[in-house]
Amino acid sequence: MRKDELALHGGPPAVTVEWSQDWPYIGAEEVAAVTDLLERGVISIYDRSGIVAEFEQAFADYHAEEQGVPYALSHNSGTSSLHAAYFGLGIRPGDEVVVPTYTFLATVTPLLQMGALPVFADLDPVTLTMDPRSVESRISPRTRAIVVTHMWGHPADMAALLAIAERHALPVVEDCSHAHGATIGNQKVGTFGSVGCFSLEGHKAVAAGEGGILVTRSREVYERALMLGHFGRRAKDEVMHKDLVPFIQTGFGHKYRMHPLAAAIALQQLRRLDARNERRRANLDLLCEVLSPVPGIRPPTTLPGVARGGWYGFKARYLSAELGGLPLPRFMDALQAEGVQVKRPGSPPLHRVPVFRITRTEAQRLGLSWAGSLPESTPPLWDCPVAEGVYPELLSLPTFSGDCFPVVRQYGEAFAKVADRWQDLL
Ligand SMILES: Cc1ncc(COP(=O)(O)O)c(C=O)c1O
Repeated sequence: MRKDELALHGGPPAVTVEWSQDWPYIGAEEVAAVTDLLERGVISIYDRSGIVAEFEQAFADYHAEEQGVPYALSHNSGTSSLHAAYFGLGIRPGDEVVVPTYTFLATVTPLLQMGALPVFADLDPVTLTMDPRSVESRISPRTRAIVVTHMWGHPADMAALLAIAERHALPVVEDCSHAHGATIGNQKVGTFGSVGCFSLEGHKAVAAGEGGILVTRSREVYERALMLGHFGRRAKDEVMHKDLVPFIQTGFGHKYRMHPLAAAIALQQLRRLDARNERRRANLDLLCEVLSPVPGIRPPTTLPGVARGGWYGFKARYLSAELGGLPLPRFMDALQAEGVQVKRPGSPPLHRVPVFRITRTEAQRLGLSWAGSLPESTPPLWDCPVAEGVYPELLSLPTFSGDCFPVVRQYGEAFAKVADRWQDLL
């Protein structure tokens, strides 16, 4: 048996190092903080006090270094934060909002709830974030906002997007759910637009288990966002706008408060964020380095002047033409046999996803409250050729978070071995 025989054909696997993914990382600090609250019976907080206030303040402070962000509002999920942000900005039924086609569905689904119409923009194939030229082509007299996701931790081209937004007097919402602590120059994502939203779900770089938070410089956006899901005592303490004050007892119909135990976990995670980001960056920069010379694989690019934060996912491109047309599933089978944890990413481009193409009649039949805001005909199928070309080529590798250099080097060897012996796989 040749030593370089593919593991798929009975050879020895390339990845032999034992490792485990310490992500999410739950340390003794999280356990102590949660235990403390449980022992004191603090499992619900109605106003901005205690651990919820402490977490919000720490999150606001973390984003305040360069561009002061005075307001942070926590939620029970990132989806709720996005909903509150859109409501905070005054998005109304029938408004168009330009969104990326390549993002997680929850960037966009809250807009449906509001009767707004998502207009999908295409992808920049280098950074996998929204292409500003595509955004500009989507703006119409009915556009009310632009939403951008810093996909897989890479900051979007905020200079170009903000210039477009300024030209058309539109607010920008940043979905930072993949990118906690990412920067452009010295400025953190979430502080460029009108509102920054973060998921704190269990696998995010700041994990609460389930949770979300938004940051904004605008008192008006903050108060409106608060009214959507933080009624009663908190609204009474904080809401001052005369149009909103009559409704503080009830708010506008949702309950989006963060669980105190989630806030306690998230606060500890936030304290560790920069160190964890550093560690992850070192691992994933090494992974890029070892994959760069391998034919058929293009590791993700990080542009100069930006730092990825969160590195929420590691998505490489597979170019089968460089390996004689070897299909991706076959390439992945061979890698998996070598001990590589590789899979296809789960978030397809959204412009073809059924919920965004639903007709008014269908929506009415299903009893969807936003049916009346839909156009009579099927919503347009937005042209996103780059996303459609790139997505089928993507593969997903672990986001190595701990002490991982030995296993990362072996991943490089596994890819090189499979790429070298592609002819054996045809
Ligand atoms: C880009 C993006 N936006 C929004 C969300 C929604 O966050 P949550 O699951 O906390 O509601 C996620 C969650 O994975 C996400 O990845």
